[in-house]
Amino acid sequence: MTFEVRAPEQEELAAFFSVNSIAFGRQLNPERVEGGMRFAERERLLGAFDDGRCIGSAGAFRFDLSVPGGSLSCAGVTWVGVLPTDRRRGVLTALMTEQLRRVRAWGEPIAALWASEAPIYGRFGYGLATEHFDEVRLARVHGRLRGHPAARGKPRLVTREEALAAWPAVWEAVRGQRAGLHTRSAAWWEERGVPAQEREEPGWSKDFFVSLEADGATIGYARYRVRGEWEHGLPAGEVAVHELLGIDGGAEAALWEYILGVDLVDRVTAYRRPLDETLLHLLEDPRRAVRRPSDALFCRVLDPAAALEGRRYAGEGRLVLEVADDFGGYAAGRFALEAGPGGARCRATGGSGRPRAGRGRAGQPALRAGERARALAGRAHRGQRGGGAGGRCALPLAAGAVGAGGLVGPG
Ligand SMILES: CC(C)(COP(=O)(O)OP(=O)(O)OC[C@H]1O[C@@H](n2cnc3c(N)ncnc32)[C@H](O)[C@@H]1OP(=O)(O)O)[C@@H](O)C(=O)NCCC(=O)NCCS
Repeated sequence: MTFEVRAPEQEELAAFFSVNSIAFGRQLNPERVEGGMRFAERERLLGAFDDGRCIGSAGAFRFDLSVPGGSLSCAGVTWVGVLPTDRRRGVLTALMTEQLRRVRAWGEPIAALWASEAPIYGRFGYGLATEHFDEVRLARVHGRLRGHPAARGKPRLVTREEALAAWPAVWEAVRGQRAGLHTRSAAWWEERGVPAQEREEPGWSKDFFVSLEADGATIGYARYRVRGEWEHGLPAGEVAVHELLGIDGGAEAALWEYILGVDLVDRVTAYRRPLDETLLHLLEDPRRAVRRPSDALFCRVLDPAAALEGRRYAGEGRLVLEVADDFGGYAAGRFALEAGPGGARCRATGGSGRPRAGRGRAGQPALRAGERARALAGRAHRGQRGGGAGGRCALPLAAGAVGAGGLVGPG
């Protein structure tokens, strides 16, 4: 290994972002450097430098991530890339080693990312924490809705400025109900949430912003584009929904009614939708909504006690977990968790942290609901020595829904 890993200097930022663009098969867009630096912190970036030449990049946003019943400070891993000329010589491994060391030093108990390719990050201790539908596609002809008893609110097309003012409160309200969503700074909203649209995608409109309002408050919103197209004199266009969020099912139902009412298109495609998508409960024929399930957020626990204590649990119980961490060892150890709907207490009890759950699994109990997490709890419980509740899985880990999109871009 002949390269060094460190934060890029101010004058090296263009090279840093250039590496990331090239790694993803794009040329450097100078706006990207400027935009990125509006909500990145230079000292949270890492470059790999070979004889002064930047060959690898990685960054870590600072935000809080919602977990069931709570929120944890989290490093949002991003801008990961290595030049095609320098791959498979350990550059990513060196970047991940240093990044995890820093995240632990910053006191952030978890790190999270969306992976460009699923197999990359398990070796660094990341585990799948949420899943979603990457895409939900519906021919408009099959968009007949059953209606929703609680549908409410009135949609209104708003300006970008109005969206920037009203939407963050909706996001925060939803974050309180759903695990896996990160805090969004004002700069984040400006760059990514409601981006200025200097350039149009060929064939597509710019973004439309629609707010759903009730009693003078914004209770939901959607950001979408329209592709206008005609075939044989018939509309053959598409609505692409990039974000649609309501503070409850009734608000989401009203937003879907609005989207399916957009005329002169024959198809609606929505991206990064939660597994409990409201639309599926509204359609007369939900099978017609063609879904592409996918992994979503990968999570890496660095401080299991803080991560497990930071969430709430559906039932009262006590569990001893033995966590193995063969990349850095940050999470390794044995932890006693006493938890319930009202709160949790977790402490290290000392122990080997011998492998039980397998690589990459430590990311799961922090966020996940559902079978795999329960299975993991069962395995971890069987792996304990002494104490505990003897032979059964005492602590249901399920709580709240997981999933949803709108998080960090691919690491
Ligand atoms: C993914 C990427 C960053 C890997 O960088 P790298 O410097 O070649 O990685 P390393 O040499 O440190 O490889 C570490 C290990 O990961 C494996 N690995 C790397 N990329 C992988 C991939 N895409 N899929 C599966 N395994 C991968 C390597 O084979 C190696 O395995 P080993 O330890 O068993 O030998 C690089 O290929 C890249 O920039 N890809 C395009 C952009 C991208 O996808 N970035 C990630 C965004 S989330």
